[in-house]
Formats: sequence, structure tokens, C-alpha cells
Amino acid sequence: MVEAWYMDESPDDPRKPHRPEPSRPVGLEQLRRLGLFYWKLDADNYENDPELEKIRKERNYSWMDIITVCREQLPNYEEKIKIFYEEHLHLDDEIRYILDGSGYFDVRDKEDKWIRIFMEKGDMITLPAGIYHRFTLDEKVNPTSFTCTRTGFQTS
Ligand code: LAC
Ligand code: NI
Repeated sequence: MVEAWYMDESPDDPRKPHRPEPSRPVGLEQLRRLGLFYWKLDADNYENDPELEKIRKERNYSWMDIITVCREQLPNYEEKIKIFYEEHLHLDDEIRYILDGSGYFDVRDKEDKWIRIFMEKGDMITLPAGIYHRFTLDEKVNPTSFTCTRTGFQTS
């Protein structure tokens, strides 16, 4: 089940969980009300997964690209991770499927408070067009290590 919580406001390293004590969890239903969809899929089988195919067909996701967020494989890595973590929005839905590794998607709720969503291998999420959001790797991925987060990248 997807794990999400209201972030603490500390300006620490974004890759820390920023999970206050006591935690203020956010459930799937609350995410749904903000227009987010979530699926758990079999990431080892993404090339031949009828469930993924069905979702893509139903929701009209016409193409898919894969990016690997790590220093060794992402051109302009430093610049890119900075851009990912700058609050932004898109005119289309943002559809992300984590094929390997993990990270956090942060979205603003209707009162502009940040909700942090932990995403790991097999998690697929869609953020609705127009929602403010950002992305960061978590602490498991050191920029100089060889552990990589591969994020399936699709738009309609
Ligand atoms: C993007 C994510 C990182 O726009 O928000 O690709
Ligand atoms: Ni985005």
C-alpha cells in the first residue's frame, strides 16, 4: 500500500523522509480526492504486463520512456535533480512507474500543504494536470553510488 504523510517544514536534505513525530499519514482516499491514481504492478514484468497494458489503453497513454535517475546514467544529473525538486506543474497528467529503486513525490493539498508520497519498485502513480508537485530520490540512493531509480515516464 502506498505510504504518504504530511511533511515537516524543516529545510533539511530533501532526501530525508521529513516525516514528523507523531506521523500525520495521508490515505489513498485523500490522494484520490486530490485527483491522484495509484497502482501496484509487477515491475519485473513491465514489458509484458497485461495489467499495465489495460491501464495504458483505458487511460490512453500512448508512449513510454524510461529515465534512470543516477549520476552515471542521467545526463546533466545535478541540474536535473534540482529541476525535479523545484515545485512545478504540467498541463498534462504526470504518470510515473517506478521500475527500480525508490524516491518521493511531493504534492500540495488544497491548502497548499506538502504531502510526501513514498514510491518504490512496482508503484505507479498519476498526478493530475495542474497539481503542484516535485520529486526527489530518497536516502537509499547516494548520487555517487550505483543504485539507480528507473522511472517509467509516460504521457498521453
Ligand atoms: C517530472 C517529475 C519529476 O516532471 O515531476 O518529471
Ligand atoms: Ni513534474
